[in-house]
Order: sequence, then C-alpha cells, then structure tokens
Amino acid sequence: MRLRGNVAIDLGTVNTLVWVAGRGLVLEEPSAIAIDTSAGSVAAVGSAADALADKEPQDIEVLHPLRDGVIADLDATAAMLHAFLRRARRHNGPLRPNALVCVPSGATDVERRSVLAALSVRRPRYNVRLIDEPVAAAAGAGFDLGSGSGGFIVDIGGGTTEVAVVAGWRVARAVSLRKAGNSMDEAIIALARNELGLILSQRAARELKMTLGLNSGDPSQTQRVETVGIDAATRTPRAERVSGWLVAAAIEPVVSAIAEQVLEILSAIPAGLAEDVVRGKIRLAGGGALLPGLPERIEKVAGIGTVVADDPLRCVVRGAAEILERKQTPGPGPRLLFLRCVFLRAKATLARGRLGATPGIAAPLGRQPARRSLSLADYSSGWRAIAAGSRPASSQPPMTDIAGKPTRMSR
Ligand SMILES: Nc1ncnc2c1ncn2[C@@H]1O[C@H](COP(=O)(O)OP(=O)(O)OP(=O)(O)O)[C@@H](O)[C@H]1O
Ligand SMILES: [Mg+2]
Repeated sequence: MRLRGNVAIDLGTVNTLVWVAGRGLVLEEPSAIAIDTSAGSVAAVGSAADALADKEPQDIEVLHPLRDGVIADLDATAAMLHAFLRRARRHNGPLRPNALVCVPSGATDVERRSVLAALSVRRPRYNVRLIDEPVAAAAGAGFDLGSGSGGFIVDIGGGTTEVAVVAGWRVARAVSLRKAGNSMDEAIIALARNELGLILSQRAARELKMTLGLNSGDPSQTQRVETVGIDAATRTPRAERVSGWLVAAAIEPVVSAIAEQVLEILSAIPAGLAEDVVRGKIRLAGGGALLPGLPERIEKVAGIGTVVADDPLRCVVRGAAEILERKQTPGPGPRLLFLRCVFLRAKATLARGRLGATPGIAAPLGRQPARRSLSLADYSSGWRAIAAGSRPASSQPPMTDIAGKPTRMSR
C-alpha cells in the first residue's frame, strides 16, 4: 500500500497534466474553468469548459486562469486545480502527500508563491514543491541528468518558451520567453483580420497553425486550408481558404524570437557542456515542438541536430514524475507511524489547552486550517530552502532556483 498519494503536476497555460505515483498519468485537460455567473458556481472544468470558450453562452464565463506560464487568476486556478485533483486522486494515503509542480524558470518569487497558494488554499494537506520546467522537460526528453551529463532543451508551450541547457538536474543557462503557441494563434487572428477581413476564433487559428505551420512560407506554394470565421464587414459567418503563406508570415516573428533565444543560449554554454549538447542534440518539447517545419528551422539556425522529444506534450509531466520517483523514500514502518500519531495528538492537545478554541489550531489531528496566509517559509519546507538561499545536495534534483541566477525572463 502506498502511504503517500504523491502527485506531479504540469500546470500549463493551455494544458494541465497530473501524474499520480503508482498510477501514472491520470489527468490531461485544458487549463480552463467555466463559471456560472448567475449561480456563482463552477459550471465545468477542463475540456468541457474549454469547449465553451469563444461561444459566449448566457451566464457562463470561461476562464483560462494561467497566462504566460504563470497564474493570472488565483481563485480560478485554485478552483480548477481542486476539481482536477479530486478527479485524479481517489485514494488518500495516511501521510501528507507531496505535490511537485512545474513552473517556468523565469517565474518571479511572487509567481512561484501563487502556485503554492493555489494548491494550499483548497488542498492544505499537500506538501507542495516547485521545479523549473526545463529540468523536468529535459528529464522527460530522455537526457540522463542523474549521471551529471547535460542537454539542450527547448520547451515550447502555450504561454512560454523555455530555452535551457541543463546539467545534473540543474539549469546551467536558461531563458524564459513569454512568447509561444498562444502568441502564434494571436498573430494568425490579427493577420487574418487585416488581410482577409475575417475574424477567427482562437480554436480556428490554432487549427490553421497546426495544419500549415511554417511549411508553406513560400508565396508560390499554394497550400490552402478552409476555415470559418466572421466577416468583419457584414458580421456574418464566412468560409475562407487560408493560404499557408499567410499563416507562416503571421507566426514568423514568434519563431524568429525563439530561434534567437536558442542562438543566445548556445553562444553562452560552458565549454564542458559543448560535447554533451552536440551529441545529445537539441531536443524540442511542449506542444509547440509539433509545429510543422519548426525542428528544421531550429536545426538550420543552430547548426546542431534538432529532434522532437517523444510525446512532447507529456514530456514535462513525465520528467517531473521521474524526479518525484527519485525523491521517494520508503514510508515509515508501523512503529514510526504510531509514534508520529502519538506525537501529533499530544501536540494538538497541548495547543488546544494553550490557545483555547482558536479556529485552525483546534483542527483535527494532523490537519491544517483550511485557509492560512502564505509566507516565504512555505517555500523552505521539504527538499529545499529558497528563502535562506540554501541549495539541495548536488545529487538531488533541485526543486527550483528562485534566485534564478542563470535564468532570466525575456518578454
Ligand atoms: N501539432 C501542433 N502544432 C503546433 N502547435 C501545437 C500542436 N499541438 C499543440 N500545439 C500547441 O502547443 C501549445 C500547448 O502546448 P503545451 O501543452 O506544452 O503548453 P502548456 O504547457 O500548457 O503551456 P506553458 O508551458 O507555456 O505554460 C498550444 O499553443 C497548442 O496550440
Ligand atoms: Mg508547459
């Protein structure tokens, strides 16, 4: 029997994935929540909520609570995660479970704290730890980080593109670009409106991007895909065959920005990692890795072999799961468990006696108050102590680098 229901969570701008120890990947849903504004309740989460986006049903507001890889709406994220975790974890072990959550390498202290808050508000039992997304992506992309070797990873998600060189579970050089799949969709929507007078939904733009990508950048090529939008002049639905050239032209600035960051990180790698990078190739992860023509483009710019990681959309959660598994130690034996129970019971009784019926303090054994204020101390529990600047032992995967020394955020 597992004593802890540990989970690895890839909380992405577009998709959220949950992996549960012993059960594997149990949830893969769009990061979306639909609110019934008349009842003030949650109407749907995940794909059911995402399916309502841009359709404006009465009294329903569809929220995508993450933007650029970080939480933009804390309450909505907390409600969404609560629903996902309830769906994902049916059996709680007796011990407090660990939740390992991936965050962009360039996320600020406040942005990291909001992830802790989102999980703690509704799920106070979780022991939440954070990990930089590129490290998880590199592990999921098959780099052997445990042996101390390095690798070059580009994780192109919906809100952020993480370009990083990692070595031995740590980020050596990284940049987090707040441009990725969503920026490409927005660029297609803008160009279709300007050039064709057609208002597209994000779903329609996304489909054009996924089908045409960069492959039809040559105006002489005539690959076209039919889409349906709203005519900007008449405000009525109109079908249009959109050319590959228009799509490639729209997404070109985002692709160029990604290629530029790849070159920048390549030109800054330590000499000791050069061989690992060339032999291991540049590996592309995240949904954006599937953009037609992107691997060839990166390879051409970088002059280094470039491959798409296996199952790129699940790469990050797979890597996070691997890290979580590595950290797992056998649970305490029955004797230790008994002693722990006695200790906790004594502590609770003492606190009750000292503080009377203070809510929260008098909560049942081992539980925390439902709501508690967050402080930097929240980060320092468990495997790491960010606030104090202390670092985990080098053999252990670090749970984030809040100082973000080698990393930076580029907008
Ligand atoms: N075949 C494809 N071609 C191009 N883009 C794709 C394809 N499949 C998915 N995408 C894009 O990948 C993005 C989603 O990828 P992913 O799930 O890795 O992002 P995320 O983890 O939610 O975002 P982030 O890591 O930035 O927070 C979307 O923008 C989606 O349009
Ligand atoms: Mg991601």
